[in-house]
Amino acid sequence: MSMRARLEELERLREEALKGGGERRLQAQHDRGKLSARERLDLLLDEDSFVELDRFVTHRSTDFGLDEQKILGDGVVTGYGTIHGRLVYVFSQDFTVFGGSLSGAHAEKIVKLQELAVKNGAPLIGLNDSGGARIQEGVVSLGGYADIFLRNTLASGVVPQISVVLGPCAGGAVYSPAITDFVYMVRGTSYMFVTGPNVVKTVTHEDIDMEGLGGADVHASKSGVAHFAHDSEPESLEAVRELFRFIPQNNTERPPEGSGEPPAEDAAEELLELVPENPNKPYDVTEVIGRVVDGGRFYQVHENFAGNLVVGFAHLGGHAVGVVANQPMVLAGVLDIDASVKGARFVRFCDAFNIPLVVFEDVPGFLPGVGQEHGGIIREGAKLLYAFSEATVPKLTVITRKAYGGAYDVMNSKHIRGDLNLAWPIAEIAVMGPKGAVEILFRKEIAEADDPEAATEERIEEYREMFAHPYIAASRGYLDDVIDPRETRERLISGLDMLQNKRDSNPPSKHGNIPL
Ligand code: HXC
Repeated sequence: MSMRARLEELERLREEALKGGGERRLQAQHDRGKLSARERLDLLLDEDSFVELDRFVTHRSTDFGLDEQKILGDGVVTGYGTIHGRLVYVFSQDFTVFGGSLSGAHAEKIVKLQELAVKNGAPLIGLNDSGGARIQEGVVSLGGYADIFLRNTLASGVVPQISVVLGPCAGGAVYSPAITDFVYMVRGTSYMFVTGPNVVKTVTHEDIDMEGLGGADVHASKSGVAHFAHDSEPESLEAVRELFRFIPQNNTERPPEGSGEPPAEDAAEELLELVPENPNKPYDVTEVIGRVVDGGRFYQVHENFAGNLVVGFAHLGGHAVGVVANQPMVLAGVLDIDASVKGARFVRFCDAFNIPLVVFEDVPGFLPGVGQEHGGIIREGAKLLYAFSEATVPKLTVITRKAYGGAYDVMNSKHIRGDLNLAWPIAEIAVMGPKGAVEILFRKEIAEADDPEAATEERIEEYREMFAHPYIAASRGYLDDVIDPRETRERLISGLDMLQNKRDSNPPSKHGNIPL
């Protein structure tokens, strides 16, 4: 065949590859409110940056008449491109081809990308839309999943891994996204479950639909499996692009810098009014964060899960940071099981990827209750303590108000290698709040007093004077300074500048044994 004829053949094959499972199935995909695999890539990546790999791969199965049905690409579009000019590897499952189901060949394409991502130190993004294991391929498909899971695990902490679930993701297939760092879902069209509604009905007699069992809101607010839930695919893909303003390419790089734009003009002054002096009055800590970070912009992660602890990314003086903050507006900002797990996972991501941690602390302690104790708050709370303790990135804390009990230790205290620990002058650092302390210390005296209420008040006042301030901690060096709230931004930025070449490490070990 001549070169010209070969070129024509190549052009024809390229066009065929673009068609996926055909016009009818593409229409059905659109009718479900879903984009095609390639439309999604267009939205995710910088314009015209996508370069496809393996477009000629087809499955090798002959069972169930499959040898008659070979579709170029075999249900997954793979390749690389850029986001904000930086390299990413990406696969996008094509539901129009065998329901996006995973064959041996489909798995090999994903594995190839995973290996490229690790070798070249660039993030991997998976756009998931799949009916799961290719039923006709049996164990070959199951093996393909395991090959992917292994590489997800080996890539963990080496390159960022992001999963965007844009359709079904069921059975064992859920465990690839589950190992990755961030999971995005879309309301109404994406589902994740180990066993679907029919199996649930048969086994437990519970009646539930797909959305109720494993939809975006369920996973973003109840199970915590998803970090983000959006109303549409374009919103979800735009949010992934936004994430890349904060995260580095791999574990040897620094995160990208921001412009250093200050927050609104009156922001610092407003901080004085935002946090009520009365330690029992709630306020919204995101309002505080927004008045400290660059441009007031805070990229919140896990916003709808365990709202009593807020985590997310921002820039401070151009430095990308991971923010962890107690949220007094939800459950008074206590630490409970979900908050501890949420915080620990976020802290470990930041530590793995050289993102300094900035903590805003206002915490009354751990949540009491039978449910929490029986649910394992001891084991789960230990995760957050462990995560902060092992982290070696720059670690800064601002105590805005309360720091009571074990939660004082956990929230990046000096004792667990906090690098710069600051407090506002209204901070109270104590084993517990004044009322609880007085009731324990002076129970007998109060019971015997002529006026128990007055006696309690007197002791509370005495306790307050003795402990409800930051100066005992400061006198011992547990705080590096007590600051005017209006200085918070500049002190954090100067701290980040000062710590930017920080070197710290943990004793050698195969790996630690975080309490799981
Ligand atoms: C092969 C599949 C398939 C699969 C769907 N298709 N799932 N082909 N293997 N797993 C094909 C269908 O035959 C159909 O082909 C096309 O994809 C679209 O599927 P529909 O059923 O028409 O679409 P819809 O009504 O939207 O339902 C989507 C669905 C359903 C909910 C995903 O297809 C479904 O329940 N599929 C099976 C899911 C499943 O049980 N998978 C195995 C899970 S266990 P045509 O030619 O008509 O277009 C698993 C183990 C992982 O994955 C192992 C890891 C440890």
